[in-house]
Amino acid sequence: MDHPRNPIARTVAFCDRFGLRLPILLAPMSGACPPSLSIAVANAGGLGACGALMMSSDSLGEWVGEFRAGTNGPFQINLWIPDPPPARDLAREAAVRQFLAQFGPTPDVESAGLPDFGEQCEALLAAAPLVASSVMGLFPPAFVARLKAAGIAWFATATTVAEAKAAEAAGADAIIAQGMEAGGHRGCFDASRAELDLVGLVALVPAVADAVNIPVVAAGAIADGRGVAAALALGASAVQIGTGFLRCPEADIHPAWAGALARAAPEGTMLTRAFSGRAGRGLATRYTRAASAPDAPAPAPYPVQRGLTAAMRRAAAADGDVERMQAWAGQAAALARAEPAGDVARSLWADAQELLGAVP
Ligand SMILES: Cc1cc2nc3c(=O)[nH]c(=O)nc-3n(C[C@H](O)[C@H](O)[C@H](O)COP(=O)(O)O)c2cc1C
Repeated sequence: MDHPRNPIARTVAFCDRFGLRLPILLAPMSGACPPSLSIAVANAGGLGACGALMMSSDSLGEWVGEFRAGTNGPFQINLWIPDPPPARDLAREAAVRQFLAQFGPTPDVESAGLPDFGEQCEALLAAAPLVASSVMGLFPPAFVARLKAAGIAWFATATTVAEAKAAEAAGADAIIAQGMEAGGHRGCFDASRAELDLVGLVALVPAVADAVNIPVVAAGAIADGRGVAAALALGASAVQIGTGFLRCPEADIHPAWAGALARAAPEGTMLTRAFSGRAGRGLATRYTRAASAPDAPAPAPYPVQRGLTAAMRRAAAADGDVERMQAWAGQAAALARAEPAGDVARSLWADAQELLGAVP
């Protein structure tokens, strides 16, 4: 498929194909994407998003029911492709527990259980969203065939050109190109590469757009009209925004986290494995800085580390202490606006159109 060279024409073609009025996708954010946020973005003409990583079939069904009661707009459901079972290292886990004890309670028995991926896939098919998105790998071929038969588009997250090409070959309908600036977990197919393959969005988007024949959605530190316009000029057909929506009232994140986002310089965020065992970008805090010190124990693999830190994360939320909270943030966190999400989505697109020389 040939994509128009003109950014506006390319964006319009994408929006027409997927029934959107704005080329703005809410990022799926596990733990931070209540239906209210998606309803606001979908009603403004963008794509809502359910980050279903931690959801059982029942909770996924409830999310979809609530979303559909608030809008007849479109949405994506996002699933993490499971990693192979982690290698356990009890000595390392004991060292992590000891380290964590400086920051709060540690669990007697870690609770790292994740919902069953096969059941999540069935619940996704039953929910019939416009889009199913993958992260951390590719959907299995049999599931891709069932998505296609059901008319559900597959958007695959990629952090490198090689991942994007593999996703296209496996049948993806669009690539979500996630730059290393992005808030939350990095979507690397191989978890061990997360700190090695650090590709920024300005290099990733044109390289992926040149390498594949399917539309590219840019994700990572896009939070105002300048970022949207730049991503589209680089070759994207749309953008996916996470942190830029986190201060909206509908996101309902902890006020301490929302307040800290407003104060975060780009260099005030860092990649860390210290919350889950997989690398993600969050605010540089007392805990994340200490955990990256040379004398700190290496985190356990995903999802063991997630279980080990669960009690500390709960205590931090109860205390309103952002220094120990799992406070994911992209490098453009300070641009996030504390305004209704629909207004944010509409004004991002209006500003981008003006910058691109199109009259909104
Ligand atoms: C709080 C939070 C949770 C996230 N959870 C997920 C997730 O469950 N699945 C996923 O594919 N991406 C997840 N992401 C990454 C986003 O999809 C997206 O790549 C990122 O938000 C883009 O960067 P930005 O936050 O700078 O806009 C998450 C991001 C944040 C900020």
